[in-house]
Amino acid sequence: MVKIKDNIYYIGVNKENCVSDNAYLITGEKNALIDTVSDENADEYIKNIENVMPIKEISYLIFTHTEPHCQRSIELIRAENPDIEIIGTIPTVKNLKEITNTVFNERIAKNNSELDLGAGMTLRFTVTPNLPCPDSMIIFLENSGALFCGCLFASDYSGEDLFNTDFKFAADHYKNNLLPFAAFVRGAIEKVPKTTNLIAPKNGGIVTDGARDFIKKYAELTAPDKTEKRTVAVCYLPDGGHTAKMADTIVKALSENGVNVYSADASKDGTADALNGADALIVGAATVHRNAKKEIWNAITSLNAVRVNGKPYFVFGSYGWSGEGLELVHQHLKMLRMKPFVKPVGVLYAPSDKDIRELEDLAARFAEALL
Ligand SMILES: Cc1cc2nc3c(=O)[nH]c(=O)nc-3n(C[C@H](O)[C@H](O)[C@H](O)COP(=O)(O)O)c2cc1C
Repeated sequence: MVKIKDNIYYIGVNKENCVSDNAYLITGEKNALIDTVSDENADEYIKNIENVMPIKEISYLIFTHTEPHCQRSIELIRAENPDIEIIGTIPTVKNLKEITNTVFNERIAKNNSELDLGAGMTLRFTVTPNLPCPDSMIIFLENSGALFCGCLFASDYSGEDLFNTDFKFAADHYKNNLLPFAAFVRGAIEKVPKTTNLIAPKNGGIVTDGARDFIKKYAELTAPDKTEKRTVAVCYLPDGGHTAKMADTIVKALSENGVNVYSADASKDGTADALNGADALIVGAATVHRNAKKEIWNAITSLNAVRVNGKPYFVFGSYGWSGEGLELVHQHLKMLRMKPFVKPVGVLYAPSDKDIRELEDLAARFAEALL
């Protein structure tokens, strides 16, 4: 247990070489816990709380989002205090019922609603979805300027002393976990009160010095880069076959039309990151035994559906008679909720000069649509 400032205690668990599992206790006329810890840390969490006060004196257990392994924390708290009110957004409360498989006293935290703890302490709830959980919210303790922000402003490393660790750890966490949700992160930052002076996330370092500066840097990190060229990943097997010839045509035409092109060799490991990070995807799928080749499946089954959601794509490839590989890959990408630019473009055996010209034209239109 660490007293962070008047009425705010750290009761989470910060083990060496682990990401800290943060949770907080706020004391007023009524007392509130913010977040729990994962099952393996639950006993230490309970001890930390009891170092401040008996669990039965706590009125509320509030969640910034659903932690999937909070069952033991809830169980231990409710063993001492069965009537404690559990508070979260609508989906959080619903999820907690599925995690605990019990009935508990519940309260829904509506957007912009308040919870008065007495003694001048008021918590304000602001719903900030998709950070990255769909059910997330941030909580602001109005009289003290403390922000309990779940995964927003979190980091993967907290240092030994937990406070004011290098900004780079928060930046790494953003890149590794929140980047696909950049628009939601920007929306959440706009809702952070200007008077915030303490940043208390669910994981990683707590910011007590220079909170405004931290938030400004975080906002810069998440701002869209308007100067950067759009990138298209073209994923195929550069094995000299007919589909590879089609791919070469597409790659050349895209480059000539102002986009960055990443040629991804589907037979090599480690292309997933580039495919996920590109703004659009083009996949070359020849047909063998009524299927696409296994290397192509390897590459596209590594896609992260969250990251590629809504991005444009099309599939092309050479075939001999039935061409199923094209449609199978096309449907897979569609099921990942990517946006088809055109129907699959199949060519019987070797692409003719006319096929090549049509592919050049298609690639140019694709690049134009992307820009
Ligand atoms: C072993 C084998 C199986 C094939 N199976 C099919 C098939 O089921 N349906 C089809 O349309 N073409 C089939 N083909 C034809 C190929 O799709 C065609 O030769 C195509 O041009 C191969 O493209 P690539 O040169 O890019 O590998 C098959 C070819 C081979 C060698």
